Amino acid sequence: MMAGPGARGPARHMGYRVHRERGPSVAPSQRSHDLEKEELTTLSDTQDDPTSRQAGAPLDQVRRQWNELGRTDPLWAVLTERGKKDGAWGVDEFLATGVEEIDAVMADVAAAGLAPGSGSALDFGCGAGRLVQALASHFDQVTGVDVARSMVATAAELNRKGTACRFVLNERPDLQVIPSDSMDFVYCCRVLQHMPTRLSSGYIAEFVRLLKPDTGVAVFQIPSKPSTTLLGRLMRVVPGPLVERVRKMQMHGLSPERVTQIVQAAGGEVVKVDADESAGPHWLSFRYLVRRPVAVPGEPRP
Ligand SMILES: C[S@@+](CC[C@H](N)C(=O)[O-])C[C@H]1O[C@@H](n2cnc3c(N)ncnc32)[C@H](O)[C@@H]1O
Repeated sequence: MMAGPGARGPARHMGYRVHRERGPSVAPSQRSHDLEKEELTTLSDTQDDPTSRQAGAPLDQVRRQWNELGRTDPLWAVLTERGKKDGAWGVDEFLATGVEEIDAVMADVAAAGLAPGSGSALDFGCGAGRLVQALASHFDQVTGVDVARSMVATAAELNRKGTACRFVLNERPDLQVIPSDSMDFVYCCRVLQHMPTRLSSGYIAEFVRLLKPDTGVAVFQIPSKPSTTLLGRLMRVVPGPLVERVRKMQMHGLSPERVTQIVQAAGGEVVKVDADESAGPHWLSFRYLVRRPVAVPGEPRP
């Protein structure tokens, strides 16, 4: 589960220095949720959102929030495990979590009968790069994209895979920085949940555009709504900004139905949807396996 750092002062992660400053100054926007609503719209998802009209438009707000988290305690911000706050993650063990995750994902992809090529992969929202480095054991060239300069800097600093990994700062609400039809594999985990759904919807459509037709595979995770744990039920009724002041991160969800619509509208096909635990126990979360079938002229899309 994700949380934010609270402490201050310098910290050291196995030989590299992390600048610790004050926590995010931007109050993220998420309104209280309608219990019956599948898709958790947020204040910043609507034209009427007063915070959207201020200088901090939704993406800028996300960028500033993560830049701050990346400057403060990047490994903890990526993986908020008990006892790992305040620079307590060791780099080796942190990177090992990426290997474990990606090996399991690639096994699931194969088990679903999908066989992406081994040339190129993208990790969207790469954070400190643990998944980018792990993907480099499966693909020749891996690109990690992130909106936070501080995270990209940490990812580059921790990179042990040389030129097989590259890290790109992308401050746009799209992925124009990556050519269409160029990726054998796109991965994204623990990212889409941290932005308004208007943004996550756009990026999901972009994942499909980037895939090589027929063979390319995308795997991404996004929660649907808070779970029925006590905290999950509280999050459905307590105003989002209040929750996020404590948790330091925005949380948003999209229903599986909506995700499927977005994928199909972009020309993709949802091959499999699995329950997923990456958003922690207080959110219902799903992981999607998506391919991009070759469009047959004259025939409707699958
Ligand atoms: C919780 S971390 C997860 C990092 C990585 N996926 C992992 O699991 O190791 C979320 C990351 O998503 C990035 N992020 C959030 N919104 C983004 C956006 N619109 N574009 C690119 N990266 C984004 C943040 O900067 C942060 O590094």
